[in-house]
Amino acid sequence: MARASAPGKLILFGEHAVVFGEPALATAIDLRTEVQARPDKEWHVNDGSLEDAGHVYVRHAVDLAWGGGPLGLEIRSMIPVGCGLGSSAAVTVATIGALGALGGKEVREEPVARRAFEVEHAVQGRASPIDTSTATHGSAVLVLKEPEEGLLWKVEKDTRRWFLHHCSLPATGFIVGNTRIAAATGPLVAGVRERVERDPRAAAAVREIGEITLEGLKALQRRDLVRAGELMDRNHELLNDLGVGHSSLDKLVAAARPHAYGAKLTGAGGGGSMFALTDEPDKVRAAIEAAGGKAYLVETEPKGLEVSA
Ligand code: PMV
Repeated sequence: MARASAPGKLILFGEHAVVFGEPALATAIDLRTEVQARPDKEWHVNDGSLEDAGHVYVRHAVDLAWGGGPLGLEIRSMIPVGCGLGSSAAVTVATIGALGALGGKEVREEPVARRAFEVEHAVQGRASPIDTSTATHGSAVLVLKEPEEGLLWKVEKDTRRWFLHHCSLPATGFIVGNTRIAAATGPLVAGVRERVERDPRAAAAVREIGEITLEGLKALQRRDLVRAGELMDRNHELLNDLGVGHSSLDKLVAAARPHAYGAKLTGAGGGGSMFALTDEPDKVRAAIEAAGGKAYLVETEPKGLEVSA
């Protein structure tokens, strides 16, 4: 039997723009998914089939990372599904890690992160490696256009390339507000591409989001939460301009802002989740719940993929 776990993630700045190769910043969070794998008479995932629609990431991970006989997989997750907190990346990374350990191989971060990105790309149609690299490495991950100090690995796909860097952020708590509206990432990513190809203002918004990421990182590192919050607010507005906002996200963002430095959607948008940077977490939590959202306190998480055979 082998076991692996991986954390969820919160994209702090740069979602969607990162798909075009712009900078983005994500942090691992203290909600994890664990996968146990053991040889069995036939394939199953928990009490269901590997073919179930809900296990599409696991199935792709198995196709890519396992050449042996049937397995029973047990998946336990603290990460709410389909709301922008990286549940698919975490289950993909943990599955690949558990399969590697079961196969008796040394499990190293970089090959796991590359395979997990291939899985996410295949399932979503188009993706960046930020979620899967963060779920693998833990801590915070900064995507840049060029290699700098702290480089973890470089990932290339068609004409795009991403340099993924280890990044340290001061330990920070965020309040996440889930709109309870599920939205698939693939169509949202495709919609942004279509807009960027036809509208130069959308292309400019993508570039501005990249600049915001770099400035936002510096603000967080020097604990200038006022500036970080302003940049979050602007990033949210630009994501709305790119067509990935939703009235329910705006409602939760508006509810949180009176008690927060800033608030923005996180992940793919179209529903899903927002988060707020605040030193009044109880007030923000209550405001989000009063506005119809489900609130979670999440903390930055240093640990990435953990494997035991
Ligand atoms: O759907 P999520 O929360 O994993 O967020 C996806 C982030 C995007 O930038 C929209 C897509 C990507 O692959 O980077």
